[in-house]
Amino acid sequence: MNEPIRFFLPGPTYVPMDARQAMTKPLMGHRSPAFKDIYASLSERLPKVLRTAGDGMLATGSSTLIMEAAIVSLVRKDVLHLVCGAFSERWFAISKSLGREADKIEVPLGQAIDPETVRAALRRKKYEAVALVHNETATGVMNPLQEIARVIREESDALILVDTVSSLAGAPVETDAWQLDLVLAGVQKAIAAPPGLTIFALSERAYERAQSVPHRGFYTDLVRYRDKHREGGVITTPAISLCFALDVQLDRILGEGLEARWERHRRLQEKTAAWAASRGIEYATAADCRSWTVSCLKPPAGVAATDLTAAMRKRGFTLGGGYDAWKSSTFRIGHMGEVRPGDLDVLFAEIEEVVACTAS
Ligand SMILES: Cc1ncc(COP(=O)(O)O)c(C=O)c1O
Repeated sequence: MNEPIRFFLPGPTYVPMDARQAMTKPLMGHRSPAFKDIYASLSERLPKVLRTAGDGMLATGSSTLIMEAAIVSLVRKDVLHLVCGAFSERWFAISKSLGREADKIEVPLGQAIDPETVRAALRRKKYEAVALVHNETATGVMNPLQEIARVIREESDALILVDTVSSLAGAPVETDAWQLDLVLAGVQKAIAAPPGLTIFALSERAYERAQSVPHRGFYTDLVRYRDKHREGGVITTPAISLCFALDVQLDRILGEGLEARWERHRRLQEKTAAWAASRGIEYATAADCRSWTVSCLKPPAGVAATDLTAAMRKRGFTLGGGYDAWKSSTFRIGHMGEVRPGDLDVLFAEIEEVVACTAS
């Protein structure tokens, strides 16, 4: 893996050459013994990344599929959403569109959810589930998931549904230890595989509750996924080529060591923060909740975020632009997946040149 990384989107992220090449392997039937072997091998390693003794499952579809499936399969009526940006707002909108009685706790952009506000909401009303985004990619906020989960467990028997799309494999997520009921993540972020697959864990009690929820559809039926998984396969024709790429990346992740990978991401965040501070570049995100995988920054005075990202693109570097309400006022550096400190050194030098050219 010697290619220099010039691609710093907060997802999809840079995918190593061997994972890309794996996708050119000849196809096989998805019910064939050959694919069953591949699926068994993925199933053996996915729980290690998801940190569960239970099942590590796979769906063909982007993360939004399992966000929707979670509501369809696990919520009859009342669900509480913790909203701190575009993706947590999307999950709330999904619940509303499915006709659920969805409430939300919302914090200003750039801030994290306070566990105590969750406690207060759970004392006011009984919910079947609480849904939250661990790492809000749009604003670079990482929520205190462990503390929030603890409060939910202390106050209720609500299922804990967690989008770890841009944190899994890049920051600690402990499915079993934190008693999370559904943990989902796309593979195109810190796992650094091509987009198109979502991996997820489902607790036993969530599986049991799902069985009593009517109208779970087909593609959104988490019971069906679990049952098929236990038979050693998937519910429909999977994106087989993407499974080949994921296979390579799971080996890479477990070869590095999951905890070592978390630590590398923490250091990338630290490095980005130190560089930004030294150049007078401010974070848009509050200091106590900065994500380990994506930094959301305000460009230096006199430089428009959109000009910065455009100039960097001309130089062959891809940055994330601002998202939604922060579109023109921020830019994002995705430091996740296979990004190494040396890649950031090159990136930072380039940004400095662009800023110097723009300012002069
Ligand atoms: C935190 C988070 N949740 C959900 C999504 C939606 O993922 P997808 O586009 O793969 O459905 C994204 C996409 O970037 C995300 O960052």
